[in-house]
Amino acid sequence: MVRVLVGELPAAVGRTVTVKGWVNTLRLQSKVQFVVVRDHTGMVQVTHRRGGEGDALGELLQGLTVESAVVVTGRVVANPVVKLGGLEIVPERVEVVSAAEPGLPIGPETGPEQRLNWRFLDLRRPERRLVFEVQTTVEQAMREVAAEQGCTELHTPKLMGTASESGAEVFEVGYFERKAYLAQSPQFYKQMAIAGGIDRVFEIGPVFRAEPSFTSRHATEFTGVDVELAWIDGVEDVMSFEERMLRRALELVAERHGEQIERHWGVRVVVPELPFPRLTMAEAVKRLRDTGWDPEGVREDLDPEGERLLSALVERETGHEFVFVTGFPASVRPFYHLRSAGDPAVTESFDLLWKGVEITTGAQREHRYGRLVAQAREKGMDASPEGPLGRYLDCFRYGMPPHGGFGLGLGRVLMLALGLPSIRDAVFLFRGPNRLEP
Ligand code: 4AD
Ligand code: MG
Repeated sequence: MVRVLVGELPAAVGRTVTVKGWVNTLRLQSKVQFVVVRDHTGMVQVTHRRGGEGDALGELLQGLTVESAVVVTGRVVANPVVKLGGLEIVPERVEVVSAAEPGLPIGPETGPEQRLNWRFLDLRRPERRLVFEVQTTVEQAMREVAAEQGCTELHTPKLMGTASESGAEVFEVGYFERKAYLAQSPQFYKQMAIAGGIDRVFEIGPVFRAEPSFTSRHATEFTGVDVELAWIDGVEDVMSFEERMLRRALELVAERHGEQIERHWGVRVVVPELPFPRLTMAEAVKRLRDTGWDPEGVREDLDPEGERLLSALVERETGHEFVFVTGFPASVRPFYHLRSAGDPAVTESFDLLWKGVEITTGAQREHRYGRLVAQAREKGMDASPEGPLGRYLDCFRYGMPPHGGFGLGLGRVLMLALGLPSIRDAVFLFRGPNRLEP
């Protein structure tokens, strides 16, 4: 018999159907047995009135365990008393295709670590799976905008012969007789694509960071959305690209999942207006100082607390959940960020904060070979042709257009969109300093 999804049952009242799913709950009474069966579209009550002797079906149901995989064939009957959609299935046949062991390892009260140990069971809850439905929508929207804007989608290598960006935070792996490193950003490769004449680059791919961070927004492996645009007039072109991309993504999320997100997670998806507010780092620090924020040692960059306070301040004033912070000092930015024409101590770069959390770093890049080499040296890096940056720097020796781009953390976006307490809940299988399993 063809499978009917639980979500389609209202249209099947009066018919005999087959439903395939998991046993969600069991209520086995002497006269009536209730089995709630769940598939990815919803839950349905299966109601069996016990017969006398030889009630084989009743005996089978008596031995069922919660989370067993079952195939139920029966008649769909309207019954206004039933809370699950006012209908039930009166079963003719139930097949246990795979019984669950009794006593589940996790339940509603289980703490986060144990839930992650049993992630596949955790994911059977609809509100947990919703994350990946939203993720699918977000990626689809971003990919659509990228394509409309003339981007070419690339997949840059994740195995590298030298450490990217900086030596820190890089995982080293054995590579035959030598060492390789896991890419901590597609940064250099997307710039290489620009040098290769690919006008606009888009990539969604894995990013590895050997950071021993235990915060709710750090993972050692995460999915990055990266964009790089050639022939830009300034970093503003990069920001306006990103805000349009995010607006489209949230429009589609609100439309498709807004109601479910609000019901399950209590968060309203707000479609952001364009343009997003923009604030220079200098203004941001001044504004924060006015509110009393003055952390020891933090003068040039925002710490997480500063990011939270600044976001809250902007939201109070503008009603906007996003804010671009621009003009970071060169001292806290990588060597390849372009310096401002008027002030070489400042970069043409930005961070995008959403609800108090950094979701993006972006910049216009220095495209002039001489200056790029000088800036690398200034940071104490080896900029010689034989050095670790040699192959990267070569890209700037034979005609490099002005360009810029950004990297966005997908897990952080999902965490914030659904109001999840941690990035651990926003990714399929979390990777952190203490977690490589399952
Ligand atoms: O800010 P990041 O380190 O910037 C770069 O990788 C630059 N190459 C981008 C650029 O200048 N175009 O990383 C980009 C984004 C962050 O804003 C954050 O959203 C996410 O990636 N991210 C992480 N997400 C989860 N766990 C981590 N450990 C993350 N580190 C960065
Ligand atoms: Mg950053």
